[in-house]
Amino acid sequence: MPYTKVTEAQILGTRECNIRCDYCRLVRDIPFERKDELDIDGWKTAFSKMDSFGIKTVKGLGGEWSVKEYLPELVEFITNNTNIKFALLSNSSFDNPYRTKLVDGGLNSYFASVDWADPKILDSNGKSAPGLKMLLELKELGVENLGANTVIMPQNIDHIPQILEFLTENEIVMNLCPAHGGDNYAFEYRAKTKSGNIANCMPGELEELVDTLFDMKDDGCFFAAPASYLDAIKTHAIPLDWKCGEFSQLRIDANGDLKICPDGGPMHYVNAGIETNEKYNILSMSPNDFRDLYASFDANKWRARCPGCGPWSAQYRAEKNKRYGIGDPVLSGRKNR
Ligand SMILES: C[S@@+](CC[C@H](N)C(=O)[O-])C[C@H]1O[C@@H](n2cnc3c(N)ncnc32)[C@H](O)[C@@H]1O
Ligand code: SF4
Repeated sequence: MPYTKVTEAQILGTRECNIRCDYCRLVRDIPFERKDELDIDGWKTAFSKMDSFGIKTVKGLGGEWSVKEYLPELVEFITNNTNIKFALLSNSSFDNPYRTKLVDGGLNSYFASVDWADPKILDSNGKSAPGLKMLLELKELGVENLGANTVIMPQNIDHIPQILEFLTENEIVMNLCPAHGGDNYAFEYRAKTKSGNIANCMPGELEELVDTLFDMKDDGCFFAAPASYLDAIKTHAIPLDWKCGEFSQLRIDANGDLKICPDGGPMHYVNAGIETNEKYNILSMSPNDFRDLYASFDANKWRARCPGCGPWSAQYRAEKNKRYGIGDPVLSGRKNR
């Protein structure tokens, strides 16, 4: 029996990055003591702990975790020593020998950032062309689950259906997210620029896109999130007033501290009504500590204190996984999932 119903974790493996997208504040502005980041031994312990908590799927992001030489060795450790399926989220800037090491280590899933399907049209942040190339190569190399993280921005909003079509043709799942803009810097993913802010789309453009995506999902396109997520985009992406209010994902910062929110900084659990100022760190937690933390999470208090953000598709997926158990596929764009 697992300790809680939470089976999914997201990890900020590092806050370093070798690219600076203009919609990501995370690696640009957030002060963080790099010396405090976990090393490979710390991460091996963290993955063993997550395994003992009943976590089944882990999405590793950053920053850009592939800047770390140790990552392929960590992937191999996860494959050989845990029941966890690990997905790397990346800007695809690493070279072929590094890619080979990841695949040889048993990499289960890979999500590339892809904001344009035709790099001849636009590839302003330099991630889309290498991302598509990497996905197609990893497919050839037999990596099981392949996905694209696509951010809706004013510049690419017209182009999203074309990207979904291209991905579906290649059996790659789209994980779509509206670019979070604005100036509430309590959150980490907040673009400061107009180009990276969904609020600067033309009136009606977002609604039109959502209607098209509903039809495409019905037609069997490979779309990762449940249909309810598309409704949430329509209502909450621009006002940024969506609230998750459920403890469905374990989130771990680069130094091992637990975060509670898809987007929030290293907040203390006191924000969720747990009356302690203690910070939780994965390295010092036991399965019972995790179970107690989960049990004392008060969704109502959390919602009352949360200022709201934009909906995150990974959160919808995690909530569904939590509700239906791990039998529900982690990655599937197929109809009605
Ligand atoms: C923070 S990145 C980490 C992984 C990797 N460095 C990458 O760029 O793919 C994870 C995803 O969040 C997206 N992202 C960054 N800033 C965002 C924002 N303000 N709103 C929505 N998505 C954002 C990125 O495009 C990327 O697909
Ligand atoms: S979105 Fe990814 S590649 Fe871009 S700055 Fe953030 S971490 Fe780096």
